[in-house]
Amino acid sequence: MDVARAKLRAARRVAVLTGAGVSAESGIPTFRGSGGLWEGFRPGELATPQAYARDPDKVWRWYAWRYRQVMAAEPNRAHYLLVELEEKKGDGFLLVTQNVDGLHARAGSRRLVELHGNITRARCESCGKRRQLPPANEFAPPPFCDSCGDRMRPDVVWFGEFLDAALLAQVEGAFGGAEAALVIGTSAVVEPAASLGRLAKSAGAYLIEINPEPTPLSPLADLSLRAKASRGLRALIQQ
Ligand code: APR
Repeated sequence: MDVARAKLRAARRVAVLTGAGVSAESGIPTFRGSGGLWEGFRPGELATPQAYARDPDKVWRWYAWRYRQVMAAEPNRAHYLLVELEEKKGDGFLLVTQNVDGLHARAGSRRLVELHGNITRARCESCGKRRQLPPANEFAPPPFCDSCGDRMRPDVVWFGEFLDAALLAQVEGAFGGAEAALVIGTSAVVEPAASLGRLAKSAGAYLIEINPEPTPLSPLADLSLRAKASRGLRALIQQ
């Protein structure tokens, strides 16, 4: 642990990847594992372009439920510790999240890429305009575009959809050039995010994982902390 603390402290370029596990301590269910969202729901029925084309109202009802859930949640200690790390590292820091709950931004993260979008926003199906959703208790889906009047969809990346190429290049550049990389609270099974830790390691970064469970990335990590996100980050960052 002392080596990892020293490596992280000395690193000028730090890249962090987070997954649903970082928001677990805010009371938001993860996707996989016991009690995960994919236990009660089938991704193919709710998180694909086909599902939305088949039954947009059903998909919007699910996202409206998740939207109310994330707006009732608060960022937890792990989110705030990552803001602290960003403040220490400045321009050399990038936080990439797979999470769509918006909690990193609410905690104050600024050098942040939301790789899979954000369920507090909608995007027009025709003109592509984005806007924040109204307060959760006033939101009745589906939203309509105030520019062209067409229906808007959740501003997230669904299974089978491609990530924005420029965003992906930025993210891969950050992990490829990192001196230290942290991978926190992700099962490391969904690409392309799942490869970022490997990319950093192969480019010479010191790779740290924080997860109560082992993942496919664990054998590759220089340190794989079997811990919850807030406790692992506190051990790594705080004096
Ligand atoms: N602290 C840290 N990690 C935790 C915690 C916690 N308190 N609780 C659970 N975890 C870990 C689990 O062990 C698991 O490895 O978080 C991980 C959550 O994995 P998933 O539920 O698969 O979430 P994630 O990896 O973010 O999923 C990736 O899959 O469904 C798609 O688009 C969705 O962005 C999501 C992507």
